[in-house]
Amino acid sequence: MTFSIDQFRIDGKVAIVTGAGGRGNSIGRAYARGLANAGAAVIVADLNAEGAKLVADEIVAAGGKALAVGVDIADPASVARLARAAADSFGGIDILVNNAALMVEVAAARAADIALDDWNRMLGVNLTGALLCTQAVLPSMRARGGGRIVNQLSGGAFPAVSLYGVSKLALYGLTTTLARQLGREKIHVNAIAPGNTMSDAGRLLTPDDSPFTKLLEATVAMRVRGQPDELVGALLLLCSPAGDWITGQVLHVDGGWVLRP
Ligand SMILES: NC(=O)c1ccc[n+]([C@@H]2O[C@H](COP(=O)([O-])OP(=O)(O)OC[C@H]3O[C@@H](n4cnc5c(N)ncnc54)[C@H](O)[C@@H]3O)[C@@H](O)[C@H]2O)c1
Repeated sequence: MTFSIDQFRIDGKVAIVTGAGGRGNSIGRAYARGLANAGAAVIVADLNAEGAKLVADEIVAAGGKALAVGVDIADPASVARLARAAADSFGGIDILVNNAALMVEVAAARAADIALDDWNRMLGVNLTGALLCTQAVLPSMRARGGGRIVNQLSGGAFPAVSLYGVSKLALYGLTTTLARQLGREKIHVNAIAPGNTMSDAGRLLTPDDSPFTKLLEATVAMRVRGQPDELVGALLLLCSPAGDWITGQVLHVDGGWVLRP
């Protein structure tokens, strides 16, 4: 079949984006709006239910389809309610974007002295949360003949030199494992590893004059920072028929940060 730009459309599909309702200018919000613009009905899911409603309202006001759901992805009962809400409202689930994570909250954690409760909480959200959401949507994806799962990694996992990076590197392992195990069922599992992105959380973590920002300026191939909307093209490739032969991959959207010396 000759390629058509329409292969990036996902009209009639139903997508869940976790972590899409938190701080104002977030990556999850850009993902939710991008998927809606490409034709999907979007479940905007976040621990912050009020923030999720703002983003869902924004999508609906722009003519899209969206529903806000408050969820704690580390809680299996809460995740089961999320999957049910998606099925009840839009008939099923085709796309899951595992974007919710603890990042700002765990940036300073050090391996030598992190408390066991803090370690468990970080992995409970950043790793187990993605697994729980995946398990919850699989029955619906199977019933619909396939699906797309995209896990949000980070340039900070390549290599992992922080505990946050450890959690994202583990999520990379979950990505390739699920891709291998679910491929025959036409369920694609891929990942995006953004570089330093100017969401509100990203701005908090790396102010212009921080030592980390200076290090990036000295080492990133192309450009140090990106905007949330600059990640959306990669997401649409992985969620649409344009990406029909892609699974188990990480797209590094980072201006070449991963190539730093
Ligand atoms: N901003 C960056 O520079 C950057 C770079 C690489 C990767 N990332 C990743 O991108 C994603 C989004 O980052 P962001 O910059 O938009 O930050 P953000 O803090 O705005 O987004 C994280 C979201 O996850 C939600 N969340 C946290 N715990 C949750 C839980 N238990 N259940 C449900 N939701 C929960 C938060 O409420 C928040 O809305 C994260 O996975 C982050 O690790 C960000």
